[in-house]
Amino acid sequence: MLKRLLVILAVVASGAFAASIGDVSSIKTLKVERGLTEVAKGCIECHAKETPGHVNDWKDSRHGHVGVSCIDCHSVKKDNPMAGQNCPGVKGTDTYVSMLVSPKTCGRCHPNEVHEFQQSGHARAALQIRAKASMESLMHHYEGRGNPDLQDSPEATGCMQCHGSIIEVGKDGRPTAETWPNYGIGNVYPDGGVGNCKSCHSAHKFSIAEARKPAACASCHLGPDHPDIEIYNNSMHGHIFNAEGSTWNYDSAPDAWEPGDYRAPTCATCHMSGIGDLTTTHNISRRLKWNIWAPISKTREGGYETAVKDFENGKITKGNALAGHPDGSEAARSEMEQVCKSCHVTLHTKSFFKMADKHVELYNTYAVDAKKMIDELGKKGLMKKDKWADEAFKVWYHIWHHQGRRMRQGALMGGPDYAHWHGVFELQQNIRELEAIYNRRMKTGKIEE
Ligand code: HEC
Ligand code: HEC
Ligand code: HEC
Ligand code: HEC
Ligand code: HEC
Ligand code: HEC
Ligand code: HEC
Ligand code: HEC
Repeated sequence: MLKRLLVILAVVASGAFAASIGDVSSIKTLKVERGLTEVAKGCIECHAKETPGHVNDWKDSRHGHVGVSCIDCHSVKKDNPMAGQNCPGVKGTDTYVSMLVSPKTCGRCHPNEVHEFQQSGHARAALQIRAKASMESLMHHYEGRGNPDLQDSPEATGCMQCHGSIIEVGKDGRPTAETWPNYGIGNVYPDGGVGNCKSCHSAHKFSIAEARKPAACASCHLGPDHPDIEIYNNSMHGHIFNAEGSTWNYDSAPDAWEPGDYRAPTCATCHMSGIGDLTTTHNISRRLKWNIWAPISKTREGGYETAVKDFENGKITKGNALAGHPDGSEAARSEMEQVCKSCHVTLHTKSFFKMADKHVELYNTYAVDAKKMIDELGKKGLMKKDKWADEAFKVWYHIWHHQGRRMRQGALMGGPDYAHWHGVFELQQNIRELEAIYNRRMKTGKIEE
């Protein structure tokens, strides 16, 4: 960590700092008086006119206050695959810049956060899509209709914005439209960096307060297959946040954000923040006991994520589906329970998790039965080749990917509408539908038209 000694400079602007955020016209006169090299000052002064939004966000950030400036994040060595001189301010000089800033750059000053991030399920988000042939065929063949010119748009406008992409650059070091821009969490950069720090701390504020609010997760964790923000809003914690969260304090130092600053937990409190004896972690998988996105939930005994390491060795892998706490699922659950401890008594927490875990086990009984029917139909040649046209496959997909995830996530995060109406209620209807198709096909030996 470069610490605060990093040139505490006064970025003095002629009247500009009094201006309110958003009023970008007033920062055109920004003058950097001391503490930075001439080149570094040049970036800020010219960009205050050319791209005032970036400078305005940056000058109000911690980085602005401690003198970490444009050049610290955007300048790269000439031989970096992302290097270019497409910025007119550096053309013909010996400075090379890239508009891509990979976690490798952040890691120069924040090595722990980057390291922890790489041990999390977030780190595999882009890699695992490319590692699976079934995902490629969904995005390009089915959704993109195999159209050579148009087949990349489903990934670029959808999946990639949440999962990230394997970013490709042209000869000029600039990223292709098929792979950038995006705010996806698991971006793989041409310099080998994996992850995306701006997914939660948007550029150029890089604010800790922003990342502590549910909004920082809600842009990805929503919708029919992972309605986490909806579940949160449905929970008693979300109820309290929505009633009074705008008055809470989000600015405490890392590890010092404690009950009192807030009355109910946000996503970050339970999955990341230091609270009580727990320390902050950028590994959002660390406190998870179950793997509840999977078709059949198992407890997480796989240690840390390994996708990044494999990528560095040149392989694209699916990642470690059971990654979590290095000491296994009970250690993970015990850390999660420590979160609750600051506000609830032991019996409250234990009883809550006892019934939530049973709901996961109940889900598994549905999934095992459904999978058995699908496998049997497959063995007997009673599934269509085009699985997205097969009624049995579609029902199975909704069982695990939609209703089943909602049922499990709703139970474990206290959202009754998702545990029940959008969850197990729909599941008991689905399993009947699947049984009917199964019985019909087994009896007639034919796939219905
Ligand atoms: C702490 C590191 C950091 C600092 C300091 C920083 N940037 Fe950035 N910048 C980023 C990141 C991260 C991105 C997002 C890149 C991506 O999408 O992969 C970005 C994106 C950009 C982009 C391209 C994206 C767009 O929206 O147009 C420009 C241009 C840019 N920054 C200019 C600047 C300028 C000018 C400054 C100084 C006032 C600055 N940056 C300071 C990290 C930084
Ligand atoms: C004399 C003015 C000027 C100076 C000095 C300057 N820039 Fe730029 N920069 C620009 C303009 C203009 C653009 C293009 C904006 C656009 O495409 O809309 C640009 C673009 C960029 C981009 C995007 C590059 C791309 O591939 O499109 C980055 C990153 C950037 N500048 C960073 C910097 C950094 C870092 C410095 C200091 C080392 C710097 N700039 C100095 C004017 C300047
Ligand atoms: C040259 C070193 C350097 C680089 C590169 C750098 N940072 Fe920082 N960052 C700092 C310093 C110094 C602080 C202030 C630490 C403090 O307040 O104790 C800071 C603070 C932060 C904070 C806390 C902000 C707050 O609201 O308190 C976040 C978040 C952050 N950086 C994210 C990033 C990200 C993301 C990147 C890469 C895009 C990055 N940093 C790159 C040095 C750096
Ligand atoms: C830019 C999109 C994005 C944002 C923002 C985001 N996530 Fe995620 N998250 C994902 C994706 C994509 C996955 C699935 C990764 C995978 O398994 O491939 C995921 C997975 C997870 C998982 C499960 C990891 C595992 O090991 O199975 C947790 C827990 C999680 N996110 C929590 C959070 C929290 C808490 C926040 C906010 C503080 C957050 N996420 C912000 C996209 C995002
Ligand atoms: C709105 C954001 C968003 C979009 C768009 C999105 N995903 Fe996801 N995806 C997520 C989140 C969040 C999770 C984590 C769910 C969980 O942990 O319960 C996830 C989980 C997954 C998983 C399971 C995790 C794993 O490690 O295997 C796969 C596979 C996946 N997504 C593939 C895709 C594909 C392919 C697309 C596009 C066709 C896509 N996703 C579109 C956010 C998104
Ligand atoms: C999933 C959302 C998310 C992502 C992605 C993320 N952060 Fe954070 N970050 C947070 C939250 C939440 C906090 C505040 C934790 C707390 O309550 O103290 C934080 C805090 C920080 C801090 C303050 C010191 C600390 O560790 O608490 C730094 C520095 C930081 N993040 C850097 C990064 C860097 C570098 C990356 C990219 C590798 C990154 N963050 C990616 C959510 C995120
Ligand atoms: C009260 C604490 C709490 C809050 C608040 C909370 N979560 Fe969770 N979350 C949990 C618990 C507990 C689990 C299940 C952990 C396990 O596996 O035992 C979980 C599971 C998850 C999963 C599923 C991981 C998987 O295996 O597929 C995701 C994704 C997730 N949370 C994201 C979020 C997001 C996003 C928010 C905010 C909108 C949020 N959580 C709010 C406690 C919380
Ligand atoms: C910052 C304090 C805080 C933390 C941390 C916290 N909660 Fe809560 N929780 C509350 C408050 C306040 C209520 C509302 C209590 C009431 O009305 O009786 C609540 C309500 C609940 C409820 C609804 C039932 C009830 O008694 O109202 C459940 C279930 C719950 N919490 C579970 C958890 C679990 C599990 C964790 C840890 C994963 C956790 N909470 C962490 C503050 C917290």
